[in-house]
Amino acid sequence: MVSSVGIIGAGQMGAGIAQVCAAIGKKVILCDIKQEFLDNGIGTITKNLERSVSKERINQDDMDNTLENVSTTLELNDLNNCDIIIEAIVENIEIKKKLFSDLGHICEEKTILASNTSSIPIGILAEASGRPTKVVGMHFMNPVPVMKLVEVIRAKSTNDDTFDTTFKLAEDLNKVPVLVNDFPGFVSNRILLPMLNEAMFCVMEGVAEPEAIDTVMKLGMSHPMGPLTLADFIGLDTCLAIMEVLHRDFNDNKYRPCPLLKEMVEQGKLGKKSGEGFYKY
Ligand code: CAA
Ligand code: NAD
Repeated sequence: MVSSVGIIGAGQMGAGIAQVCAAIGKKVILCDIKQEFLDNGIGTITKNLERSVSKERINQDDMDNTLENVSTTLELNDLNNCDIIIEAIVENIEIKKKLFSDLGHICEEKTILASNTSSIPIGILAEASGRPTKVVGMHFMNPVPVMKLVEVIRAKSTNDDTFDTTFKLAEDLNKVPVLVNDFPGFVSNRILLPMLNEAMFCVMEGVAEPEAIDTVMKLGMSHPMGPLTLADFIGLDTCLAIMEVLHRDFNDNKYRPCPLLKEMVEQGKLGKKSGEGFYKY
């Protein structure tokens, strides 16, 4: 039974995961590298909860209780006693490996180490942790409070208790967990990202304007968001990181990242979070 959850990374995913865990009564400790990132994360959670109160989905007491369940820290050591830690930091394999190695040293033996990575094979993080049976993938979808799916990724080394506890936590969060085996990009991003990448090639080659491409996919295929709006929403740095993992790990040129995507990330155009991507925000 999970009662305490450590979340590392207070960005768009970490804040959302913290919110949904705190809302069902888990004690959450949210960790990031700068106070302003923690403040922004708490700001996002507060805004989401206020909207839910105004829509009478929850009452003021629910909101207060949820916020009371979230504490913040800049010290990784403060997470050492958590039942589970969910990592939601930048999609960079070396930075994540270092973090999993640190967590392996810091955490009590009972602590499950879960990663919300979009693409990096869980087995690599499991090995880095030095406690591979306790490592699992817990891949939430953005925006976390709204989207029902959680891919629960079982690495070869993940033991039954780690997998079952994580799967049950996703169910308790009122999500629909799906078992996925440990392949780069799992199911979701192996299918989704090549589509977003192809939409970027359409922009680069002048097939149509971004608005037109998004309209085709929204009205023609009933997607809730067009692929370029969705790429901006995910973050173009994250999209590029995912394509690079797919390209490298499958060693197949069909996953080559679109040069326009690379160029935009180099220019600091990261999508909604930086104020500009395929659209201006
Ligand atoms: N955070 C919290 N709640 C949000 C939100 C956010 N960022 N954005 C929208 N919502 C809520 C709204 O408040 C609204 O709630 P109510 O029902 O209480 O009114 C609800 O979601 C619907 O929002 P809207 O009516 O404003 O807009 P919409 O109908 O267009 O829905 C959407 C918004 C749910 C985001 C929808 O556009 C959608 O489903 N988009 C696609 C999202 C998607 O594909 N996500 C997966 C991305 S890939 C991924 O996550 C994996 C990865 O590793 C990259
Ligand atoms: P983000 O850029 O919004 O947030 C990342 C946060 O991690 C930042 O606040 C950053 O300061 C913090 N961070 C970086 N290194 C850290 C460290 N060593 N210790 C503590 N905090 C650190 O990114 P995001 O969109 O929330 O993505 C986070 C993770 O979730 C990535 O692995 C991403 O692939 C995955 N993911 C993203 C989406 C999406 O749609 N954006 C969906 C599912 C999964």
